[in-house]
This record gives sequence, structure tokens and C-alpha cells, in this order.
Amino acid sequence: MASEREKKPHFQQWPIWDEEEIKAVQDVIRSNNWWCGAPADQTGKHVWAFQKEFAGFQEARHCIAVSNGTVAIETALIALDVGMGDEVIVPDYTFVASASAVVATNAIPIFCDINSDTFIMDVDKVQSLITPRTRAIVAVHLGGNPVEMDRLCEIAGKHHIKIVEDCAHSHGSRYKGKHVGNWGDAGTFSFQASKVLTSGEGGAIICNDKSLAEKIYSITDCGRKIGRHFYSHYIYGSNYRMSEFLAAVLRAQLKKFPSQHILRNRNAKYLNEKLSSIDGIKVMKPTPGTEELGYYIYPFVFKPSCFGNITKENFTGKLNIAGIPTDDCYPPLHTLACFKDVSLRKGIDYSRANWGGEKSDNRYFPVVTDIYSRSVQLPQYLLLAEKEMLDYVVNVIKNLS
Ligand SMILES: Cc1ncc(COP(=O)(O)O)c(C=O)c1O
Repeated sequence: MASEREKKPHFQQWPIWDEEEIKAVQDVIRSNNWWCGAPADQTGKHVWAFQKEFAGFQEARHCIAVSNGTVAIETALIALDVGMGDEVIVPDYTFVASASAVVATNAIPIFCDINSDTFIMDVDKVQSLITPRTRAIVAVHLGGNPVEMDRLCEIAGKHHIKIVEDCAHSHGSRYKGKHVGNWGDAGTFSFQASKVLTSGEGGAIICNDKSLAEKIYSITDCGRKIGRHFYSHYIYGSNYRMSEFLAAVLRAQLKKFPSQHILRNRNAKYLNEKLSSIDGIKVMKPTPGTEELGYYIYPFVFKPSCFGNITKENFTGKLNIAGIPTDDCYPPLHTLACFKDVSLRKGIDYSRANWGGEKSDNRYFPVVTDIYSRSVQLPQYLLLAEKEMLDYVVNVIKNLS
């Protein structure tokens, strides 16, 4: 009989590329146009074309491509007038960028606990975190799972609060008839190497308001305006432009994305059914109203008592030994040294924050603390595997119990 080691499957590597990506990069080199070009003549071909194509794909009116997903959030917040002393509600369970972008604007992130079934921001808890200083909410569709945007928009509307949707995990996610990124004031994306649509680095901001789109553009291009003189700078701005190389690769990747997205959704549904039937496994529940999920990661939690009180490290370690790749989960933001020790921006008073020192104690964030302690994440490319491979994953997990 073949040993476990011999039976180890080979999962799809990421990123997936072919001659089209090679040709795209070569074309940029040969064009002698390696950047998106001055705003008066838009000489770069790919950045401007990608912006149109990605806006079309996400069904948004406007898209501004930028150098990464972190500055995408920062830019959206600045464009929405978030700044010094403002409070911005951010889920506690996300990558640090969702909150560090808030810190970069000199505002104060306020951490919101998550829902134990969907693993994303608990909209019921948002209300209790609103103060007269709350200026915005960063709604993160973690793992592609949409935040309950209809309810969140209602709450935000009542309090005149802006919403930035952090869609770094949710390319293609659709909730109640609308792609994510179109519910709030702006939606931000990352195209970093591990993302489902990638060019190694890169980001984008989508929105549906023309004047906001123009402001966002100016912030990302040194305060310039499209169609105006190169050395005219109208507002505060920086250089967050995307290069032609990234956009050329993204255009090739965008053609591959729809079929991968369908496969990920189909395979996730299959895994959901199979894994849910194992005693002690709880998969991420898609938010009711979800029509498609971006599935940047496939998360689930295990009940240690059903698996001989195994630790999370041993659980993932055993999967890895069996050849199944796992991703590290994000430590809750309140536990990160930069927030716990309040090592952030000079001159900003963080004393009102609901984290820092004693306030960072896990007991104030009970759901995320519990979920994090027993959650496992499978990478998105695993969802591109053949059915037999998914069955293999299910069997390995079943045999751990
Ligand atoms: C939820 C989330 N937001 C924002 C980002 C930042 O994107 P980038 O790495 O492109 O700056 C990431 C990156 O992993 C992310 O996971």
C-alpha cells in the first residue's frame, strides 16, 4: 500500500501565467512607455485600459489604479476627508493594512469584533462603537465574504459616516445584486502576489461618484488633474501611480479570472458540504444574500475536543505534512505590538482608542479571540484543484479526529 507521503497530492501553484503575460511585459518594454503617462495625454496604454476593464468587471463607474492595496485605502480615506483625530471603525480580524491606512491619515482606528459564523465585522457591534467623532468605517470583506452592506449603509447613513470597502480579498464577490466595492463610498483592491487577481503588487480604487473619482485621481498623482498641465498641482497629493508593467500583467490576468472565480465558488461549495459533515468542523458561513464569493482564502474552525485537544499549530502542521498548504491567519489587530504598545504616529492622542495596554486584553474581543485560536486557512489556489484533491483534503481532516 502506498504510504501517505507517496500519496501526497500536487496542488496548483500560484500565480498561474502563460505566454500572454510574457508577451504583455515584452510589449511594454518595446513600447518605450513604461509608465501611465502625464495626465494631459495619458500616453501609457495599459493603466488607462486596465482601469476601464476593471471598472467594467466590478460594475463601477470609475476606477483609479494605484501601486498597492494599502495606499488604495489611505487614498480613499483622505478623499473622503478623514483626518486628524477622526475615529474610523475597522474589524479586529484583518490584515494590518486595513488599520495602518487609517493611522496614516492621522485618524484613530477603533476595532470591532467579528461574527462567529461569518468571521467578518459584526454589524450589530458597529452601532455601539459609533461616537460623535466617528467619521468612517472600513468594511473588510475578509476571505471574500461580504459584510452585510445593506445594514451597514443604513447605520452609516443615519450617522453621516463614510464607508470604504476593503475588497483586497473579494474580487468578484457579489452581495444582494451588487458587486462589493459599490455599496460604500469607495471600494479598494489589492493585486499583491497572493491575491486572486495579481501583478505581484498593485491596487485600485473604485467609486461611482465623478467628483470623488477626480479627487482620488489627484491624490494619487501629485495633486494633478486629468487633462491639465503636468506641473499644475491643485490639492495635496502623492505618487501612488501604477506602472505600465503591472497593468499589462493585470489585463492578461483579468482574462483568466472569470473561469477561476467560477471554479473557486464551485469547489468551495463542495468543500463546505463535505467539511461541514465532519464533527467539530465549522466552515465560514457566507453572509446571507451572498451571490458570489471572491475566496481569497478558505477559512474554517475546528473544535479541539473533537480532535483529541489538538493545538492549532499541530492541526495545520499535520495538514502540511500530508502535503496540504495552509495560510497563516491574521492575528487580531488588538494583539499586534504596534497597537498594544501604541507605537504609531507622533503627536496623535490615541487615548480614546479601544486598544492599547490593558484595553488590548483579549477579553474585550471575545469572538475574534476564540475564532483565531482555532481557525485554519486554506489558500485560494487550493480551490482550483481537481475534485479528487479536495476529497483528499477532506479525508486528511477527517482522519485527524
Ligand atoms: C484585507 C487586506 N487589506 C489590505 C491589504 C493591503 O494590500 P497590499 O498588500 O496590496 O498593500 C491586504 C493585503 O494583504 C489585505 O489582506
